Formats: sequence, structure tokens, C-alpha cells
Amino acid sequence: MASRRVSLGIPVPRRTDETSPALPDTSDRPDTPALADRFGRAATDLRLSLTDFCNLRCTYCMPASGLTFLGRDQLLGVDEVVRLVRIGVERLGITQVRFTGGEPLTRPDLEEIIAGVAALTPRPDISVTTNAIGLDHRAEALRAAGLDRINVSLDSVVSETFERLTRRPLLHRVLAGIDGARAAGLGPIKINAVLMPGVNDHELPDLLDWCLERDLQLRVIEQMPLDADHIWDRGAMITADDVHAMLAPRYLLTPVDEPRDGAPAELFEVAGREDGRHLGRVGVIASVTRPFCADCRRTRLTAEGRVRTCLFSREETDLRGALRSGADDEEIARIWRAAQWGKKAGHGMDRADFVQPERPMSAIGG
Ligand code: 5AD
Ligand code: SF4
Repeated sequence: MASRRVSLGIPVPRRTDETSPALPDTSDRPDTPALADRFGRAATDLRLSLTDFCNLRCTYCMPASGLTFLGRDQLLGVDEVVRLVRIGVERLGITQVRFTGGEPLTRPDLEEIIAGVAALTPRPDISVTTNAIGLDHRAEALRAAGLDRINVSLDSVVSETFERLTRRPLLHRVLAGIDGARAAGLGPIKINAVLMPGVNDHELPDLLDWCLERDLQLRVIEQMPLDADHIWDRGAMITADDVHAMLAPRYLLTPVDEPRDGAPAELFEVAGREDGRHLGRVGVIASVTRPFCADCRRTRLTAEGRVRTCLFSREETDLRGALRSGADDEEIARIWRAAQWGKKAGHGMDRADFVQPERPMSAIGG
């Protein structure tokens, strides 16, 4: 496969430290409580990474080895997470919270965190993006704590391919996790799949079949340049157009007739090519070839409590330092608003001068 790698003239990203948060200039910011930015957007959707650790090593996300993970004291604790989300919902207009990682289930206190967030007023919608390992043992408790929905990352249901992609032979545990989630009433479950050229792309029609048979909504995500090993190749990556071409022989896809409402996935009704029978839906997330940045409603917090306004930001703004040095809620809200004001218009992934962020996806939080 041709290997045209992203050129990396990596300037060291400016990371604000705990003592001197270098906030964006807010002199032109209107006096609004919302998490507004200069491009007319307001974030209502918070993605909060709970850990940078994961029990898989997906090639598009993490290196095989050599990572050092955050220590316990560096991660936000239960009370800190709940406080930040409370500030988000009470003062900043956050209505949806998604917990990500790394792998959020590797935190034994996830149930406590969710229960704390579910007790907030107004109560946000609460979801988790997970690899589902161990979910069979925890789905009931998570549901009882207030978890509304889950997205499971699963790129292949063929053991050998799964192991090649994740570097771990754990497909059976993921499948058990999905079954457990379903039994606990955590549906509708979405499955996130990244297609890697020459690894699992040829399995797509079978993967969609597998999901449709189980009433799982597959969402195919274009691979983004967020991997530690810099294996992303714009020329070789599987695009949304490729996805349509690969599904066309077996399925008829028609766009879902509903407003997209800022959602990253374009949704399609799926019918059998032969008999026209309606089988379900599929989503395509074309972050690279059809970016949806203009409608982005996200703000992100990293596992160590830094605001990151975009997956592709090269700047972060620390909130943990303020939390730990006794700042009041309004001061934290002020720093968060100022950080969001500096959100860029878009990720620019398709531009020649694009620079991949230093931190892999596992450290930022999907
Ligand atoms: N490109 C696209 N999606 C990615 N994910 C992780 N790394 C990448 C990448 N480089 C996805 C995972 C998971 C979600 C959190 O992000 O599959 O579902
Ligand atoms: Fe873990 Fe998710 Fe990254 Fe895979 S994509 S290594 S499951 S954090």
C-alpha cells in the first residue's frame, strides 16, 4: 500500500500549565453564560475523558507499548468530575455528557460518577463510549446509576481481525459486554467502527449484517490522524464514498429524512438490494471528507481536567489547578468560557499544512 505519511514538522504544542493559564483574548466576547466561540457556535455537548488508560491497543489510537499513563492523583476524582459537570449544566448550558477514555470502564468508580451526574439539575443526558470489556458485570449497576446510552467501539467480529486491530485476543469479552448491556436495557446500542485499509475494510458488509441482525446501529467512522504511530494516510484511508461503494452491492441506502441537528453521523435507512426489505439504519461519520465543524456543539475535558475545544486542538486550558486551589464555581466557569472562545473554526485535516496533535486519541478522549 502506498504510504504517503502526514508530514510532521511538529511544533511543540502550547499547553497551559496550572499556575499560569494563558487564556485566549476575550475582549471581543459577548457577555453570555453559554460556551460560545467566535464562529457563532455554542457547546452543549460535553465529552469528558475519565482516564487515558485502556485494556486494548487499537492501532489507530495507541502505540503497542511505551506509553506512560496518568497517575491516580493526576486524574480527576469523582467529586471533581461531578463538580465540573455541575458547573457545565448549571452555568454553561451543557445538556449532554459523554464519558470517554481511554476506556472509562477501567475506572472502578464509574458508577459513582454517573450517579453523581444523574443527580444534577437540570439532569443531562448521560452516555459512555466504551470497548465493552467487563460491561457484562457492570451494565445493571451503570443503568441503575443513571446511564442512558452506550456506544461500543468494535471494528470487527472476526477474532483474528479483532486481534490484529486491537493487539489483544479479547473479542469474546466485548461480545459478552454487548449482550450484558442489552440485557440490562442499555439500548439502543450504537457500534462505532473504524475501517483500516487492508485490515477490516473488506468485512464491512458482513459487519453491517451482524449489527442489523442484532438491532445494533452501526456507525462507520473515517479514520482520523490521531494515532500515536502516525499510520494515518490520507491517500489510503477508507472514505465515506468508499463505504457507500462497498455496501452498494448488498444494500440500498437512502438518507434518513430527519434534521441532522449537529450530529456527526449522517444516517441512512438500509434496505436489502434484492428484496427491498427495510433492515434498519447505518450511520457514516465522515470527519475527514465531509467535516461537520461548522455545526460542532462540543467541548472536551481531558482526563487530567483540561479543556480541549476540539480533538485537533493544539492548546489545552487547565481547570484542575483551579479546582484544587479553591476557585469558586463562577471562576471555573469563566476560565472554561474563555477557553471555548478560542475554539478554531475547523480541524483543517484536509489541508496541506495540517499538523497532527501530539496526543493520541486515547489521551484526549473520543
Ligand atoms: N480515527 C477515528 N476514530 C477513532 N477512534 C479512536 N481513534 C480514532 C481515529 N484515529 C474512535 C474509536 C472510538 C471513539 C472513541 O473514537 O473507535 O469508538
Ligand atoms: Fe482503547 Fe478506544 Fe483507543 Fe481502542 S480506540 S485503544 S478501545 S481507547
